[in-house]
Amino acid sequence: MCGIVGYVGKQKAAAIILDGLKRLEYRGYDSAGMCVLQGGRLDVAKKAGRVEDLVEEIARHRFSGTTGIGHTRWATHGGVTDANAHPHVSSDGRFALIHNGVIENYAQIKTFLAGNGYGFKSETDSEVLCNLIAYHYAKEPAGGEGTSCFLESVRKALGHVEGTYGIAVLCADSPGEIVAARKASPLLLGVGDGEYLLASDASALISRTKNVVYLKDGELVHVTPGAFSISTLDQADVSPVVDRITWSITDAEKGAHAHFMEKEIFEQPLALENTMRGRFSEDGSTAVFGGLNVTAAELRQIDRFLFCACGTAWHACLVTEHLIERFARVPVEVDYASEFRYRNTPLHPNTLFWVISQSGETIDTLAALREAKRKGYRALAINNVVGSTLAREADGGIYQHVGPEIGVASTKAFTSQLMVGAMIALYVARMRDMSFSDGVSYVTALKRAPDLVRKALEQAPHIKAIAKRFAPYNDMLFLGRLSLFPLALEGALKLKEISYIHAEGYPAAEMKHGPIALISEKCPSVFFAPSGEIFNKIVSSMQEIKARQGPIIAIVTEGSELPPGLADEVITFPECHEAVLPIVAAIPVQLLSYYIAVERGCDVDKPRNLAKSVTVE
Ligand code: AGP
Ligand code: GLU
Repeated sequence: MCGIVGYVGKQKAAAIILDGLKRLEYRGYDSAGMCVLQGGRLDVAKKAGRVEDLVEEIARHRFSGTTGIGHTRWATHGGVTDANAHPHVSSDGRFALIHNGVIENYAQIKTFLAGNGYGFKSETDSEVLCNLIAYHYAKEPAGGEGTSCFLESVRKALGHVEGTYGIAVLCADSPGEIVAARKASPLLLGVGDGEYLLASDASALISRTKNVVYLKDGELVHVTPGAFSISTLDQADVSPVVDRITWSITDAEKGAHAHFMEKEIFEQPLALENTMRGRFSEDGSTAVFGGLNVTAAELRQIDRFLFCACGTAWHACLVTEHLIERFARVPVEVDYASEFRYRNTPLHPNTLFWVISQSGETIDTLAALREAKRKGYRALAINNVVGSTLAREADGGIYQHVGPEIGVASTKAFTSQLMVGAMIALYVARMRDMSFSDGVSYVTALKRAPDLVRKALEQAPHIKAIAKRFAPYNDMLFLGRLSLFPLALEGALKLKEISYIHAEGYPAAEMKHGPIALISEKCPSVFFAPSGEIFNKIVSSMQEIKARQGPIIAIVTEGSELPPGLADEVITFPECHEAVLPIVAAIPVQLLSYYIAVERGCDVDKPRNLAKSVTVE
């Protein structure tokens, strides 16, 4: 959610910060702003609305300084107004601060500061932190020998706050310096050529450097001209580890595509290849994972898996549950991370805990992981962002390796999570009852997935035409069974996220236990009807809808025959192995949602009210 950019170097900061803010737009925000330190003055431009609304304001300021910070806000405390946008400047004019997260005890601190003569121009919790830094700076201006009183004031202020934060702070007395810190909100330092950048997300700095230091919770970084140092809230020095980002700027750009979502949908064959690369045994009968940190003997002792996640990643958990139970015959439970964290659910002693998260920064998923670890369970993560908080806190896991996903509606990250789930099912199954030859055919099937997805994508023009016809509807049902029930949930989520059409996903046979009341000529149903043992059952559910004048879009295996006139539209996908079916079946619903949203004129990559990663509770 929301974004942070900072720059210290020899170039004019404003243009670099503006570029960073544009690259963070995908994360979801409602206001933007920047502050540049020039001539000992903190000059701020900020506005509610889009980054492009800020451009004129920035031009008016004629920023020329080489130190600055910029922010995209996703309001938590106080309305979406210019005054509540960040950066905030302390009432003595000394500090400017940008903040991602929530300061939970801001009300008490605000009362205390007001009693000490500090004034407030916004309703935010963030401005309170800015003034608290100013308070400590004014109270104890002299730092000890070799210490910076700018840094120490930030450290002291953070010692008094409860909540979550990624912050970057400028001090009018310290040109060429930024102090930044994090707790449960991502922050990284880019180490460039004679310059430093700060960002909440690598995409904001990758155009200038690929060398980064991922800050950990409770760490502060102090950037000075030509140097930086990292320390903890308790003043311990930290030796920085400089990592190298493996993807490039073009991965974070949409090229010839109209939207990032479109690009990411069409990139899925490649994304799946990247997820599988190097992860099959030499004999081609099972999967191999480098970073699980669980030995085969330990895994053999596991009686149960518990998967937690949010949103689309939760749907990936449901598919994974189906595949593990089906092929490895190990019981799996799935829970919403947001529920698990408070439910104090009884767990079987030999449970292996998993989380799935594209971003690795979703606060509920992190909390679920911490809760499982607190209880002494080993906790693994499936995650797409190298160096994310989740990846660092998990005991081990599997990276998805699909490059940055910019579209708010998850597509390539989802199918790659399904691929990882299918590979885990194989890995566990081969340690139990799956034979060598079944393992070989399973691996062969997974390797064919990219080609089958390519084939499914060929339906795009046909689906676009269907989307034109169905875009005016205001309600839609998505129905599927077994491993495609989660796909029904995912189809409905995709559609509502980006087109704002009310949509629900159900197991197809559940429809008659309630949702059928919604059926009329005004409420179309999208059915997954793959060939196989329950094809006829699904056809019966379709008949029930048809009998009530409900329009039907049927997504079927190539060559399937539906009773004439039953479906209003038919979309096909190629025949595939059970483990690959959910991956291939995802394509039609992704395309349908995308084209419907485009047809309705929606801002596909920046849907209203949504953020790419949800870093608040
Ligand atoms: C997906 O389209 C959504 N935007 C959302 O449900 C997302 O999957 C969820 O917030 C979890 O995100 P994560 O994978 O980064 O943890
Ligand atoms: N809580 C702060 C506010 O409402 C920061 C929100 C954000 O993370 O952007 O301004």
